[in-house]
Amino acid sequence: MSHILKIENLHVAIEGKVILRGVNLEMHHGQTHALMGPNGSGKSTLGLAIMGHPSYTVTEGSITLDGQDITEMEADERSRMGLFMAFQRPVAVPGVKMADFLRHAATNVRRPDRKEGEELIPMREFRKELKSKMEQLKMDSEFARRYVNDGFSGGEMKRAEILTMAMLSPKFAVLDETDSGLDADAVRLASTSIAEIGREKMGLLIITHHDKLLEHNPPDYTHVMLGGRIVETGGIELARELHDHGYDRIRKAYPEADAANQELNSKEEPAMIV
Ligand SMILES: Nc1ncnc2c1ncn2[C@@H]1O[C@H](COP(=O)(O)OP(=O)(O)O)[C@@H](O)[C@H]1O
Ligand SMILES: [Mg+2]
Repeated sequence: MSHILKIENLHVAIEGKVILRGVNLEMHHGQTHALMGPNGSGKSTLGLAIMGHPSYTVTEGSITLDGQDITEMEADERSRMGLFMAFQRPVAVPGVKMADFLRHAATNVRRPDRKEGEELIPMREFRKELKSKMEQLKMDSEFARRYVNDGFSGGEMKRAEILTMAMLSPKFAVLDETDSGLDADAVRLASTSIAEIGREKMGLLIITHHDKLLEHNPPDYTHVMLGGRIVETGGIELARELHDHGYDRIRKAYPEADAANQELNSKEEPAMIV
């Protein structure tokens, strides 16, 4: 089945500060889109707004999934509808094992009408599926017994997210800087794992500065964000250009967006990282 995620004229503010200023983006199931842009241009904000993070207020525009307006929907409702995001900085949940977390998450997504306290996916069925996904991703079975992100290395956190994505089989997934802070081997492992799950089975928005991730997951489209807007869209060659030459050409070509970007990031305090 074909799915479409459509973002139209999206304006988003945090605590009254306008960050996204008219984002348009249409993604189809099976496509991979790369989202690039300098720091503070609004990439993470877009991802979080798609997921329905409560701190991000949509002041104008809309997000629709298969024609259904989800702009005002709660985050958990969106994940039940098939949206998934791997965060730039995932949180640790000491005391909760990966396997238990995944069983709850998978149950919530697969049984959207389930009430609190009702049965989870049967253990045997779940275990079998988890084992096969972990084998596919060449992960040690021990990993499922560790506490979620507790003491995980950067690489392990990303692998945990990719495993979660594999178990939830979302319609659309946003991967926010899945490669940041990882060494070359860890990036390669994360890239091949994403490719292994099968990009054709979902729509993927990959936020990245690096081309390593894109090497194994070549984007059908590359979007460049500056000052809270997508200023340019191209193919994989655009991703290569930005990786090799940076954003100077973009900044010069879109002076208004560049000014907005500088204004967004002109505060004395360091940029908030979500
Ligand atoms: N929680 C927040 N509170 C206030 N400002 C924020 C918050 N999150 C992001 N911002 C600001 O929004 C702008 C865009 O940030 P972000 O979306 O994280 O950019 P990117 O992911 O492209 O680096 C930055 O100027 C940043 O300081
Ligand atoms: Mg970011």
